[in-house]
Amino acid sequence: MKYTYLDCLALFGVGGAHPGGLQLTKNILAEEKINKETTLLDAGCGTGQTAAYLQQHYGCSVSALDNNSIMVDKAHQRFSSLGLPIDTKVGDIENLPYPDMHFDIALSESVLSFTNATSAIHELKRVLKPNGRLLAIETVLEQTIPEEERSSIVDFYRFPQLLTEDEWLTAFRKAGFQQVDITKYQPTLDQVDEQNAADFSLSKSIDDALLEILEKHKEIMQRNKDKLGFRIFRCS
Ligand SMILES: C[S@@+](CC[C@H](N)C(=O)[O-])C[C@H]1O[C@@H](n2cnc3c(N)ncnc32)[C@H](O)[C@@H]1O
Repeated sequence: MKYTYLDCLALFGVGGAHPGGLQLTKNILAEEKINKETTLLDAGCGTGQTAAYLQQHYGCSVSALDNNSIMVDKAHQRFSSLGLPIDTKVGDIENLPYPDMHFDIALSESVLSFTNATSAIHELKRVLKPNGRLLAIETVLEQTIPEEERSSIVDFYRFPQLLTEDEWLTAFRKAGFQQVDITKYQPTLDQVDEQNAADFSLSKSIDDALLEILEKHKEIMQRNKDKLGFRIFRCS
């Protein structure tokens, strides 16, 4: 394949590229105590929809990071056009360019599955203050599936791993999070598309191959709708 699924999201500039979109993000954040003094990291920020909302709605200190420079350029354009003072960096969640114990909250919305989750979670724990919390929306494998099906999913998304809820829980605990609250979230495919529809930032040239990738993504999600699920992990 010429492009990866993540290239496709970046070139289309999909805002809210996680299950539940901005509405789910708002609901999750509403449960947290966030004020002007709160320091917050959006790790794997994509085009910056969540980071912009956080800065506008709460006036808190927001840092946004992604390892895809197209995503970061689009996030930067969004923040500049809205006049938002958001620290924006190209960087790797597995090797975060921030000091230890810096943030009150780290968010990663549909990001960890694309990374070496063990390294990424350890890094997020490192940059959080001792009483900080990690809010993650992640894909989970709901049931055992044949190896061939598993590979077709992980190869398409280039997931280094595809974890069950229990495996995620173990990974968060191993990184030092003592309390992990888990909420199930299972949107319909139509809901996902609707939520993302309003926020695109298209690159100048869009290859037909990218449309094929979007189709393939829909097809994989449809075929595996009982096998892949989503969870919100609140780790402290
Ligand atoms: C599915 S998108 C979600 C983007 C954003 N969180 C959102 O909800 O719109 C996954 C994002 O994770 C980023 N990403 C993947 N691996 C990463 C890594 N190792 N370090 C930083 N960002 C990464 C991708 O570039 C992409 O922007």
